[in-house]
Amino acid sequence: MLHAATSATLIEPTAPTVLVIEDDPANRALLSALLERAGYRATTAADGPSGLEAALESAPDVVLLDVGLPGMDGLEICRRLRADPRTVTMPVVLLTGRTSVDDVVAGLDAGADDFLAKPFHEAELLARLRSARRLALVMAEMESAQGVVAALANAVEAKDTMTEHHCQRLAGLAHLLATAAELDPVSIKGVVYGALLHDIGKIGVSDGILKKTGALTDDEWIEMRRHPIIGEQICRPLASSREFAPIVRHHHERWDGGGYPDRLKGDEIPIGARIVGLVDAFDAIVHDRPYREAGSTENAIGEIVAQSGHHFDPELVERFAAMVEGNDLDETDDRLRIGSLAALRASSRR
Ligand SMILES: [Fe+2]
Repeated sequence: MLHAATSATLIEPTAPTVLVIEDDPANRALLSALLERAGYRATTAADGPSGLEAALESAPDVVLLDVGLPGMDGLEICRRLRADPRTVTMPVVLLTGRTSVDDVVAGLDAGADDFLAKPFHEAELLARLRSARRLALVMAEMESAQGVVAALANAVEAKDTMTEHHCQRLAGLAHLLATAAELDPVSIKGVVYGALLHDIGKIGVSDGILKKTGALTDDEWIEMRRHPIIGEQICRPLASSREFAPIVRHHHERWDGGGYPDRLKGDEIPIGARIVGLVDAFDAIVHDRPYREAGSTENAIGEIVAQSGHHFDPELVERFAAMVEGNDLDETDDRLRIGSLAALRASSRR
């Protein structure tokens, strides 16, 4: 059963909509009244199947979802919303009486964005709704930047054909590592964009330097090392660049402070930049360059582990080595390349 909540409160036509899926009539009425008082438009459903249908059909701004429901439980509804492209980024807050670690893990695995323990406090409910809405708005902003990011990524590869598909592969690897490092969905999307655009500043470096096969002179190095700053300036006009411009600027910093352009050290380096810097080094070792042959995955991991705590963040090195051991990345190379496009979409979730 699907109901539009009724109330004497005047609701703005543009008010955000919250779908409450809750089988307990008293709770349902309480939530509706409370939401409408706070300026939301509330709709309700009393069981799993009608709740799922309402979420798919009416595209609410947020879903408040009870876990124990007749017909289909809240976790299953959540999984189905995440599997449907129309609702993959829809904010879902789980209402639960149980908040054990296992329940939270099950909820997160099902794709919930947040939890609210029953009995809930009004102020906490409204704060969680605001937070879910904020996340959804940032995600929408990043979704709208996706076409521009893809066009800019093509521009990098057109300029530097020696690294063809390098940025695409990197986006796939960076997505895997950011997920393993348990970053939030917005940050993961930022990492994917940062990986695609990390070398965009090479557009401003002369071809003679970019394509030189011999050693660079000191002056040439100075010009080459300007590319992270040029890249940050290119990205800046995009509103969502706050999520990835720092990655572009800092992808050549080192954990020990010996990198460039700002000689940041340790945790001062944004985690997205640490991730992209690490997978950039890995990808460079396992693929051919004009000046040397490709190394094996084992060699690459060996070199990266040797630089743990020097060039790279030790915790990320550990996660990355475990990740590579768990996947045969040589064989999945094509999948990573193609997968990086999927990563743009998948990172909407994790
Ligand atoms: Fe670079």
